[in-house]
Amino acid sequence: MKILLKNPDQIVTVNTSGRNFKPGKSMNDQDILTNHSIYIENGIIKDILPNSSANRIKADEIIDAENLLVLPGFVECHTHSAFAGNRSNEFLMRLSGKSYEEIAEEGGGIISTVNSVRQASYDELIRLLAPRIKNFISQGITTLEIKSGYGLSYYDEIKLLQVINYYKKNSQIDIIPTFLGAHTYPPEYKNDHKEYLKLIVEELLPYIRKNNLAEFTDVFCEKTAFNPEETDLIFTKAKELGFKLRLHTNQFHSIGGIEVALKHSAHSVDHLEVINDGEIEKIANSELTAVLLPGVSFFLDYNYAPARKLIDLNATVALSTDFNPGSSHIADFHLMMSLAALKMKMTAGEIISATTINAAKAVGMNNILGSIEIGKQADFALMNAKDISEIIYNIGNNLNVMTIKKGKIIYKRETE
Ligand code: NIG
Ligand code: FE
Repeated sequence: MKILLKNPDQIVTVNTSGRNFKPGKSMNDQDILTNHSIYIENGIIKDILPNSSANRIKADEIIDAENLLVLPGFVECHTHSAFAGNRSNEFLMRLSGKSYEEIAEEGGGIISTVNSVRQASYDELIRLLAPRIKNFISQGITTLEIKSGYGLSYYDEIKLLQVINYYKKNSQIDIIPTFLGAHTYPPEYKNDHKEYLKLIVEELLPYIRKNNLAEFTDVFCEKTAFNPEETDLIFTKAKELGFKLRLHTNQFHSIGGIEVALKHSAHSVDHLEVINDGEIEKIANSELTAVLLPGVSFFLDYNYAPARKLIDLNATVALSTDFNPGSSHIADFHLMMSLAALKMKMTAGEIISATTINAAKAVGMNNILGSIEIGKQADFALMNAKDISEIIYNIGNNLNVMTIKKGKIIYKRETE
């Protein structure tokens, strides 16, 4: 199948010159092409050519992109989209002064969603996840990571991963399943952490690997969850089994998570709202992608991760919603981009790199997608914008009008 994406106003290629990621200063440089079209063969970008030569191509299908701005399809690299129930009651508790951590310590928080997920059937969870994926696609997202972590028992973690894998097989975008059994200790193991660790390391990890239910293993390294030694234990086993690694760390306290992530060559460290200069330097001098989640800071009315310092020191920074029912009940990817500009002082160019190629790196897909370069998947978000600045300026207004995955239109806005 030969497709021509014809005559857009601009193509923001996020060119990486073959490196497939953009650290530090390079995040800001966006290769912007005008008077060009994109030639796609069998879902892959075959050529990016001047309109004058594009006219000679005989395509099976022409996608008219006139007046639109073409971006690489967005990569949403950190979500907890597979959940049941809601935590609006906790939102009210926080408005009257209780902190997120206090609520968690009293048995709410993650455990409250665990209770809802345990009560929900596989079919119910399938139904709940469908519109969430659809919503992400309508925003131009073509690659989506989804974590487990609200089952926290053998049966319920596998149930959640099976739900995520259903969509890995049956949705139109790339879905990356991540095992987050180490999200927090479930009530049954509150006083026996060793037993829960044993369940993860000896039963869940091998089963998940054997059945190919997750590509990544993630851990929440935090005072109220898993300490660095426990994280190290889980990472050691996960790595041995062939999992790639991610880490929730430095959300509320700096307790040594970054060092564990470095020791095991994790793909990313996520959150980083509470971080010291030494830790920032360690990330900047490493292969780690720093996944920043401004929706959490907004939702919890809390400090923002130091994006500027990280980028200025040459770190590779990505952005994500962290969509979940407790700390960021915000599925608006474009709002994250506006928050990154307003609250983290990131430039429009940096924000585009952080939501495309660098986010692809966090999920290990940067060799095949995340930028508009020959040989990569033909994944695009077509925006009704003259310039990338309009995307972050239009808060609460989704400018994406067409989402294309592997050359196929999977979302098109109805025109009124
Ligand atoms: O990334 N920090 C840990 N996990 C999630 C929140 C999960 C929840 O509150 O349900 C996060 O913020
Ligand atoms: Fe998270």
